[in-house]
Amino acid sequence: MTTEIRPATAADAAAIADLHQRSWRSAYRGLLPDSYLDGRAGDELAARWRTAFTKDEPRRVILVAAAPDCIAGFVAAWPKGPDKALIDNLHVAPGQRGGGLGRRLMGRAAAELRRLGFRAAFLEVIEGNHDARGFYRRLGGVEGELFVEPIGDHPTRVIPIAWDDLAVLEAAAGGA
Ligand SMILES: CC(C)(COP(=O)(O)OP(=O)(O)OC[C@H]1O[C@@H](n2cnc3c(N)ncnc32)[C@H](O)[C@@H]1OP(=O)(O)O)[C@@H](O)C(=O)NCCC(=O)NCCS
Repeated sequence: MTTEIRPATAADAAAIADLHQRSWRSAYRGLLPDSYLDGRAGDELAARWRTAFTKDEPRRVILVAAAPDCIAGFVAAWPKGPDKALIDNLHVAPGQRGGGLGRRLMGRAAAELRRLGFRAAFLEVIEGNHDARGFYRRLGGVEGELFVEPIGDHPTRVIPIAWDDLAVLEAAAGGA
């Protein structure tokens, strides 16, 4: 099955929201309360993706891994300063993990961010999400100091992960 990494459009918003919700429910089970994951989280993610493409932000990067019949993954990044970007979400569909799509999405995102003039990037990962932390370390991400922030209303222990040089991320991910 060929899977193409391409820029997302507004027409992808509903499929991205659906994948986002399914990914949260599988990856964050036990890390966030079931009542939140199975309740309000879905509405919040749907609302987020309904508006994501209407924001006038020329330096955002939203990419999808488009399989012939579905969206198999996505990554989004937003400016946080003139040369630093927040990688806000990276999700691969539960049945497709471990096959290299996460790596390809990160590599292409790093390349796009560099093209837009960004030098560095960071993201936040839930402390107990050990698989994602291993994946980011594999791609050269450096973990910072743990902090607590609300997800939904739930105080959540979160680790920041940074790349001071996006070229390192792009190279570690195998290029664009
Ligand atoms: C985290 C995630 C995006 C990774 O994508 P993926 O397609 O499963 O990962 P890949 O197959 O591209 O893996 C790339 C590399 O990372 C490595 N890796 C993956 N998981 C790892 C882990 N737990 N520990 C160490 N290395 C890991 C792989 O071995 C691979 O390296 P290799 O090619 O040298 O073997 C995906 O698993 C996912 O969507 N998880 C659930 C959602 C989530 O937690 N997102 C992150 C939110 S912050």
